[in-house]
Formats: sequence, structure tokens, C-alpha cells
Amino acid sequence: MKLWGGRFTKETNELVHNFNASISYDQKFYKQDIQGSVAHVTMLAKQGILTEQERDTITGGLQGILTDIENGTLAITDESEDIHSFVEAALIQRIGEPGKKLHTGRSRNDQVALDMKLYTRDEIVMIRDLLKKLMEVIHQIMSENLNTYMPGFTHLQKAQPVTLSHHFGAYFEMFRRDRSRLQDIYDRMNYCPLGAGALAGTTYPLDRDYSAALLKFQGPTWNSMDSVSDRDYLIELLSALSTIMMHMSRFCEEIILWNSNEYRFVEIDDSYSTGSSIMPQKKNPDIAELVRGKTGRVYGALISLLTTMKGLPLAYNKDMQEDKELTFDAMDTVKGCLALFTGMLDTMKFNGDVMEASAKNGFTNATDAADYLVNHGVPFRDAHGIIGQLVLLCIDRGISLDELPLEDYKEISPVFQQDIYEAISMKTCVEKRNTLGAPGEEAMERVIEANARYLKES
Ligand code: ARG
Repeated sequence: MKLWGGRFTKETNELVHNFNASISYDQKFYKQDIQGSVAHVTMLAKQGILTEQERDTITGGLQGILTDIENGTLAITDESEDIHSFVEAALIQRIGEPGKKLHTGRSRNDQVALDMKLYTRDEIVMIRDLLKKLMEVIHQIMSENLNTYMPGFTHLQKAQPVTLSHHFGAYFEMFRRDRSRLQDIYDRMNYCPLGAGALAGTTYPLDRDYSAALLKFQGPTWNSMDSVSDRDYLIELLSALSTIMMHMSRFCEEIILWNSNEYRFVEIDDSYSTGSSIMPQKKNPDIAELVRGKTGRVYGALISLLTTMKGLPLAYNKDMQEDKELTFDAMDTVKGCLALFTGMLDTMKFNGDVMEASAKNGFTNATDAADYLVNHGVPFRDAHGIIGQLVLLCIDRGISLDELPLEDYKEISPVFQQDIYEAISMKTCVEKRNTLGAPGEEAMERVIEANARYLKES
């Protein structure tokens, strides 16, 4: 059934129908469409625009449609233009005349704006939950690895020793910001467009506060033209989703490196790895690579919607229908990636010994060796030079600073004593860094405690 046949004398060209139709993807929010209609009709009856009996017949019909779609007895077919037309046609077919009153005081423009908001709100809640699950796994790994020493890198060159707990703590912070960003977006978008009509409100005495309250919005939106043409919240959301993907992608990149034969810092579990059709020895980190790969797709959605919106005059334009497929795809992609990434992390094995050996072999304690001299009165710039020469000596001999005999230290500076070895042990190097945010155990314990509180409370 068409909602708009009256003023037309010709059938729609079939290609036009297909090009114009959105039912293949907007059927995703059939539940929200029905939820919105129930609220609308409830408000119409409260305002005396529909009788209570009409309200009950319509809402009963809508509930029946919902049940039948969910149990598979009512199939959503692509003869209808969109999910709104489908539900309205199904309703009229089911309950007859009263069904024709459903759309009183409403346009598909405020209806679709509402459906999309309702759908997005639910998705935001789900994505926040998935982020929390991921953070719980990170938190667990952090709590167990306060003394797992590893090299920290800058320029992908070994820099100073940190711990696995500290390294993972960086991602905990990123995902905490991601969750908070999603909450901000939720709060900002949580205003109800229903009642905005096509663009200029309606002549019926609608109670927009009431519909907004029924649908658990903070309140109604304040300008009917903006209400039907605002897609800011989707752009913000796609930006937040892009940032989540960027964070996961960086993490994946590290895991791929760490899982390589050269690093061997971690081993991805068999259940989260894949093999090669030709090389029998291979165990590939495909999941991490796919998450990294899918990041581009979510960025694409953001750029696409920004571009769609940039030239649109007020108010509704059909271009806006393009917001759906790409936002749905981005939300589904992020949800899938979060779930898989969390599982991969949760089952991953960490090779603490390899990490610690790598930190030692990479002279990550060189700064601490220089600090040792400074603590004995040598100016930092001189100390830097002295340790530089010792590093060169070690590279020459293929050893680490803690394997260099004391005579060699003394030969270059008489300041060195036996306690240099203690001063440059991985444990000392890390444990001395105890300012808040640093990798030392005491500092980390404070952070882990705060993180535990966050996970409990939010
Ligand atoms: N399928 C449309 C969309 O997603 C619904 C709104 C149609 N409104 C209209 N004036 N043609 O944007």
C-alpha cells in the first residue's frame, strides 16, 4: 500500500520504486516504529483527538503486528516503500477503519526521526555495555600483571621499562573516555522529535511533553524544522564509533606485532586464530587484522554522512534516508568487533619472561643508569655521554648493561659501585616510578583501585 497515491495518475516506475524504497534496511527498527506509534496514539487519545476505544483498537492491532513479526507469522515484504508504510498497511488490514487514524497529526518525517533516535539510543546502551565488558577484561589483566616488566616504546624503539599492567592501563583510559563520549551523545540527543510533523508542527492540540515522557525522553525538541532534519547526533555517534575503532585498531596493531615470531610477547589462543591453506606451520592473527581493517569502514560512514548533510537546505530532504544503512553498518561493526576483541584478549597468553628479556636487551634501563650517576653528583649531560659510551660497548659485545662487568663501568667512571646493578634492574627501574600515572606498583595500585570503583559504579 502506498501512503500517497491520491494526487498521482500513473503507477510508479518499478526502478523508481526500488531506488526510493528503504524497507530493505529500515525494517531493522520495526519495533521502535511500533513503540513510537503506540505512544503517539496514547497521546492522541489523552488529547481527545482519538476516542479511548480507537486508541485501544489501534494499540491492540499494533501489539499484534509486533508479536507476529517477532514470531515469524508476519513477514516484512518489500512491496512497501518503508517500514512506516508497512506497519500502517498491516494495521489497516488487521483492524480496518480505526487504523486509518494512526497517522493523525504525524508525518513520516518526524516519525522516522523518532524511530532512528529510539533505535540509536538502544544501540548506545549496548555499545557502552560491550565497552564495559572489554574494560573488565583489561582490568583483570592489569591486576594480574603489576610486575610483568616489558619495554615501553617511543618511535617503536625500546625506550624505558614499563609493565604489562601499565601498558594495558593506557587502553583502559581510552575506552573509559569512549564510554563517557557515548553517554554525552545520549544525553544531548535524548529529546523527542515526535509532533514536529512534516516540518511545521501540526494544527492538532498535541501534548508533546506527554509523548516525550511516554518514550522516556528528557523532553520534546524545540524547533520543528530542526527536529526533522537534525542528524547531528548520528554524526557525533559515528565520530565516537570511529574513535572506538581507532583505539581498538591501535591495540590490534600491537597485538599483531607482539604475537609475531619476532616478538613472541603474547600468544593468541587457537580458538581466536586461523590457519593457512598452504603453509602448515601458520597461525594467523586474523581477528586482530579484521578489527583493524574494519576501522576504515566506520570512518567511511562518518565521512559519508557529513558529506550527505553538508549542502542540505531546511527541512527534510530525501538525502537523509542515506543516514540509515551506513549508521546501522557502523553500529553492527563496532558491536561485533568489541565482542570478538574482548574474547581474543580474554584468552590470550602473555609471555612475561620474553617481555622482560626484551626490556633488558633493549637498554631500556639506560636512563636509570644515567640517573645513578646524577645521584652521585655527575651532571646529567655528562652522565648521558658516559652511559652512551657504555651502551656502545655493550652493543659491541652483544650484552646488556646488567651483564657488563663492574671493571668496565669503573674504567669509564670511578663513580660506579656494585650497587649499579641493583639500580638498573628492571624491578628498580619500574618501582622508582611511582608518581600517579607511572608504572610503579604503588602508583598502579591506586589506579587499579579507582578503575575497580569505576567498573562497579558506572
Ligand atoms: N524512508 C524515509 C527516510 O528514511 C522516511 C521519511 C520519508 N519522508 C518523506 N517525506 N518522503 O528518510
